[in-house]
Amino acid sequence: MTEFAKHQLAGSDLLFDSWVTRTLKIRYPILMGGMMWLGRANLVAPVVRAGATGFLSALTFPDPQKLRDEIQRCRDLAQSDRFGVNLYISNHQDSDQDLRRLVDVVCDMEVPFVETSGARPNDLIPPLKQAGVKILHKVPTVRHGKSAAKLGVDAVILVGAECGGHPGPKMVGSFVQGAQGAQEIPLPVILGGGIGHGSQVTAAFAMGCEGVLIGTRMMAAKEAIPHEAIKARVAASDGTNTVVVQSIFNHHHRVLSNDATQKVLELERQGVADFETYRPLVEGSATWEAIRSGDYRRGMIDMGQSACFVNQVDPAGTIIANLVTEAYAALEKLGVRQ
Ligand SMILES: Cc1cc2nc3c(=O)[nH]c(=O)nc-3n(C[C@H](O)[C@H](O)[C@H](O)COP(=O)(O)O)c2cc1C
Repeated sequence: MTEFAKHQLAGSDLLFDSWVTRTLKIRYPILMGGMMWLGRANLVAPVVRAGATGFLSALTFPDPQKLRDEIQRCRDLAQSDRFGVNLYISNHQDSDQDLRRLVDVVCDMEVPFVETSGARPNDLIPPLKQAGVKILHKVPTVRHGKSAAKLGVDAVILVGAECGGHPGPKMVGSFVQGAQGAQEIPLPVILGGGIGHGSQVTAAFAMGCEGVLIGTRMMAAKEAIPHEAIKARVAASDGTNTVVVQSIFNHHHRVLSNDATQKVLELERQGVADFETYRPLVEGSATWEAIRSGDYRRGMIDMGQSACFVNQVDPAGTIIANLVTEAYAALEKLGVRQ
């Protein structure tokens, strides 16, 4: 019998009882971070059904009505409203208004929690708080986490250098940041970046964190939208074929190494600082084209070092169940039993 089955039979999840499970009202303290293009109802709903939770990506549905429909679709598929929406805050002021319209949808539909990321969420806090939406703000350093705590967010998601997406310029790993953040940030800390095996969930709790966040681990989920060739590429990765691009713009971005990233890194080596030269290589439409067509040589495809834990295409619910099984196995190894 698997650890998971034993654990289910035992009917208790007290070992991972935490701020995350209690406040978000979910069974397992595992969150799937917002993922541009991937964060859709098809992927979030099975994660919720498996007892974890995830975030729809608001920017994948920039039209407010489409976001509204997607939230409803996710509720129908999950038979639950225990999931959130990722609100990526850009530094460009002209996108503020568009984001505010999406925030209005979140508040109006009484989405229980959001993951904010990117720039500081200052302006979004009052409307979200007023609507009773819990704010989990994602940051790349402990220092940013402490600042976020002063702003009045409810919890901090701390991602280390290993993460797919934006690790920030300081590049401190999750193993250091988890322990440091849990001690120094005066809010519940959820640890992400490089997590793809259940033993790391147990480790995060041992460090004092209240939950974990995963992204890359879900890229090859059966229900995820990427073309099978992209999923196969992620599954074949041993975690070493990621690169950090766009550090020249202080917009560090960890992605799958491919032909496009080699060109970007060459431009950076040459000291080219004009963004227009980079635009055709890095713009979102190139990434979407790669994800849709399976041509992994193109676009900036977010992928973190935890790709090493992805070995095949599995249903999202199986991935969550495996993480839980591994987390309990790690506890047993330490001599902790229910
Ligand atoms: C394909 C992909 C797309 C992502 N898109 C976003 C996004 O739109 N907004 C965001 O806040 N984070 C985004 N992220 C980051 C994840 O939410 C999460 O922070 C990260 O994947 C955690 O690290 P890991 O990849 O090592 O698990 C993305 C990550 C991946 C792998």
